Amino acid sequence: MEDEEAGRSQALSVSSGPEDASRKGSVMSGPKTVRQYESKFAEWFGADYAFAFWKGRVALYAILKAMGIGSGDEILLPGYTCVMNVNPIKYLGAKPIYVDIEPTTYNIDATLLRDRISPNTKAIIAQHTYGYPCDMDSVMDIAA
Ligand SMILES: Cc1ncc(COP(=O)(O)O)c(C=O)c1O
Repeated sequence: MEDEEAGRSQALSVSSGPEDASRKGSVMSGPKTVRQYESKFAEWFGADYAFAFWKGRVALYAILKAMGIGSGDEILLPGYTCVMNVNPIKYLGAKPIYVDIEPTTYNIDATLLRDRISPNTKAIIAQHTYGYPCDMDSVMDIAA
């Protein structure tokens, strides 16, 4: 386990070149470093590409746009969320559909998900509130 963690940490560590010296210590310390980070991240995940974004809200917008989300589409997300998760949906002309949350975790209640699905549903935003993972097994079963 420790070896695995060390390996992951090493896989994601990037060295700053001279051009980044003035801002050493940050993984977002320059174009070259960002590219290195993206490359290592993709390698770690076994993906062809990875893209770094400056904010979660921007990444979410890019993901939804890449999925072709647009007018008339519905996106399910927990009723207890941050407006930054709702704005990308609205910017694309889609409609946020709120699903009630579990009282113990504040995460989306997966037992209520199916009732909120319609022919217009295109995605579920699975938020892990306050660091508590939501029930991804159930969410993935329903999304499949
Ligand atoms: C649940 C949740 N999602 C998304 C965001 C927005 O993240 P970012 O500031 O990286 O866009 C926040 C910000 O507080 C948040 O609480």
